[in-house]
Amino acid sequence: MSKIPVIIDVDTGIDDAMALVLALQADKLDIRGITTVAGNQTIEKTTRNTLDVVEYFGRSEIPVAMGAKQPLIRPQVIAAYAHGESGLGTAVLPKAEKMPDELDAVSFIKKVLEESEEQITLVPTGPLTNIAILLKAYPHIKNKIKEIVLMGGGAFGGNYNAAAEFNIYADPEAAQIVFNSGVKLVMCGLDVTLKATVTPEDIDTIRAIGNKAGDFIAEAVEFYMAMYKRNPNFTGCAIHDAVTITYLIAPELIKTRQGIARVDIDGRDSYAATICDFRPWRDREKDNALVCVDIDREAFVKLLVEACKNY
Ligand code: BDR
Ligand code: CA
Repeated sequence: MSKIPVIIDVDTGIDDAMALVLALQADKLDIRGITTVAGNQTIEKTTRNTLDVVEYFGRSEIPVAMGAKQPLIRPQVIAAYAHGESGLGTAVLPKAEKMPDELDAVSFIKKVLEESEEQITLVPTGPLTNIAILLKAYPHIKNKIKEIVLMGGGAFGGNYNAAAEFNIYADPEAAQIVFNSGVKLVMCGLDVTLKATVTPEDIDTIRAIGNKAGDFIAEAVEFYMAMYKRNPNFTGCAIHDAVTITYLIAPELIKTRQGIARVDIDGRDSYAATICDFRPWRDREKDNALVCVDIDREAFVKLLVEACKNY
């Protein structure tokens, strides 16, 4: 079976790191590059974390290109409350020797797309700043993009506030450009990612693997889990970003709904909300998104555990 060519765009981040752990060992993926964006932490930190994760897990041949350091328009927000000062909780990785690619993220993605004979899937798991700049600056490149499988948004509400999910809230104008671009979207938003949870018992299983991946994940998730434990309905923590990779390597675990997805940048209380239209009588010509709505949690955890064992 031929591999799926992808470029992953991350703001690493604890759950971004877990998405990478899943992706870097996946036989089904041909990772043509990884690009970084500011989001969970500053661009310096998300890039450092990405380089460190990629090298630690033995894939330093994959180029890492540094991207946007701030949102297009709105003031920057970061998520140290969820990912800590470093962006990886209390986990500390050896400092990677490899430096970022000489190209910036947007130029890097453009070059890889232009040089590719086949279409490539973009997988953003942070704010959509790099992707929006790419699509605006080089619209001709759209026909080289197979689809954009993104973590962001939520048809039924937010996490940063009642309406908005963090990645969209961090750069809503960029998200609007991407959602209106005409490129096919697969939206792994909160509807599915809040169901993609790992429990403290799952983390015990991962730690018990006793290798570098198990140790790293168990350490990094501890900080993240602590935030989730403040939720009175706590059952586990959501590994949002890993759902994008799961969609690509094990799509049978995920349920989707076809619809029209847009980003509101004009509302007051709904600023940065993703509005999803599933009405049966909508104008289906305007459908632009497969919205992921459910996941087989047990199988998802198993996928993560098996991925860790491969290191
Ligand atoms: C998203 O926000 C970030 O904090 C996570 O890495 C994930 O991409 C979830 O809302
Ligand atoms: Ca992220």
